[in-house]
Amino acid sequence: MALVETLLINVFITGALLAVVLLILVVYLFAISSNSPEDPPGPKPLPLLGNLHLLDLRQPHVSLCKLSKQYGPVFTVHFGPKKAVVLAGYKTVKQALVTLSEEFGDRDITPIFHDFNKGYGIIFSNGENWREMRRFALSNLRDFGMGKRGSEEKIIKEIQYLKERLEKFEGKPFETTLPVAMAVSNIICAIVYGSRFEYSNPQLREMIQKGYKVMKMAGSVSVQLYNMYPWLRPFVINHKRIVNSLRANFGKREEHIKSLKKTLNHQDPRGFVDSFLIRQEKAEESGETKTLFHTNNLINSVVNLFSAGTDTMTTTITWALLLMAKYSETQAKVQEEINRVIGGRQPVAEDRKNLPYTDAVIHEAQRMANIFPTNLPHKTTCDIHFNGYFIKKGTTVVTLLTTVLRDENEWETPNSFNPGHFLNKHGQFVKKDAFMPFSAGRRSCLGESLARMELFLIITSLLQHFCFMPPPGVSEDDLDLTPAVGLSLTPTPHKLCAVKRLL
Ligand code: HEM
Repeated sequence: MALVETLLINVFITGALLAVVLLILVVYLFAISSNSPEDPPGPKPLPLLGNLHLLDLRQPHVSLCKLSKQYGPVFTVHFGPKKAVVLAGYKTVKQALVTLSEEFGDRDITPIFHDFNKGYGIIFSNGENWREMRRFALSNLRDFGMGKRGSEEKIIKEIQYLKERLEKFEGKPFETTLPVAMAVSNIICAIVYGSRFEYSNPQLREMIQKGYKVMKMAGSVSVQLYNMYPWLRPFVINHKRIVNSLRANFGKREEHIKSLKKTLNHQDPRGFVDSFLIRQEKAEESGETKTLFHTNNLINSVVNLFSAGTDTMTTTITWALLLMAKYSETQAKVQEEINRVIGGRQPVAEDRKNLPYTDAVIHEAQRMANIFPTNLPHKTTCDIHFNGYFIKKGTTVVTLLTTVLRDENEWETPNSFNPGHFLNKHGQFVKKDAFMPFSAGRRSCLGESLARMELFLIITSLLQHFCFMPPPGVSEDDLDLTPAVGLSLTPTPHKLCAVKRLL
């Protein structure tokens, strides 16, 4: 009897303890996920789930835009248990990214990216590591890529191969993504390694296809859930796939870097990797014990430059070609301007100032493409009082670039393709401050100058040589501008015809 009594008491105590622990857990989860009075407004979060019930994770920017209509330009949202502040509209985003560039300038490194980058490289690093790697990459891109004539020559050389490739389709329908991706990858290859791949090389194709898949998986719903609940890791199949793919990618880059090391000429660096290796040797020779110029930073920076510089460029150019096929009158006007100003010779960067309509069309295509609607996530570096609200140090900040590129106060027809946004009444090109596809401030796109030169030279050269049209049987109206789901907004898979023009 005494034994039964003791047993019952134990069961009761254990049950009571469990109930108390459960209660504390619920109260704790509720407390960490609920808003304090100084927080920016936002929908009430559910314990553990936060505001997940209000978010379409296949296109989070759409849900966030809806919420911004309800809660204003600064609001709080809970991605599961993770509290974030969302900023919307040109004025607010500019104030944060430009005026308070330091305060809003850290990267929020989500678990999926931390797993691979471990805080090294450029995109997913912070503090001294980020500063040093960004500075080094910028100065080297200047030497081997942007700004100097070197990059222009590299781009123009690659354009010849791209044109030949498109000619081979003889005006028949083809998917524009792969040839464009091969060309822009090769431009990065030339800058980073100092060499290019033949289009027939299966390594190039494999690198592009794997990179594309990783970007799609990184933006998938399961990976977003993993970023909110890292304990889900063993159950996220896409996580395993990304791990395997990136491991293989890192291995290939390492091999390539080793082969460059063997043939390194200190007097004549071929590209970014050579410069890094030379800097690394210098640090070793002078006994710098805490140098940041180590292999982890090299490989991660190389992977960053490829992933940031290939997918973005390919996506933007394929959007531009699709828009040209859809709006054939605009395409014809661009071609008329190119004929008149350049004729049949190869376009060069200097031509941009004499091609205002073409320049306006490229800008408008980039505005409509809106490839990073939520930007990459930022994090506050200190406590901030912002527009009457308090934002704690270390808070995730989402700057909704889509609400800048489509801000009703900044653009006459924000949701439709209108090159007039970038032209004055005399037909001259006008810059617009709300044109922010590269973001702004200290964390803004490191490759912006290179990207702008590439976009201009590639799009102008392609439109000079080809007319882009829908496949036979498909009308211009049928061309679909609905983006596919992923980390960036790409056009849904489609085919176009590139019909050679008579020059
Ligand atoms: C159309 C082409 C491109 C677009 C639209 C684009 C856009 C962006 C955006 C929105 C960011 C995030 C900025 C932020 O966090 O506030 C970014 C970052 C970055 N981009 Fe680009 N990008 C393009 C091309 C390139 C190219 C060609 C390269 C390199 C060769 C490049 C390298 C980078 C790097 C390294 C970062 C990280 C910067 C940092 O964290 O400090 N991008 N880009």
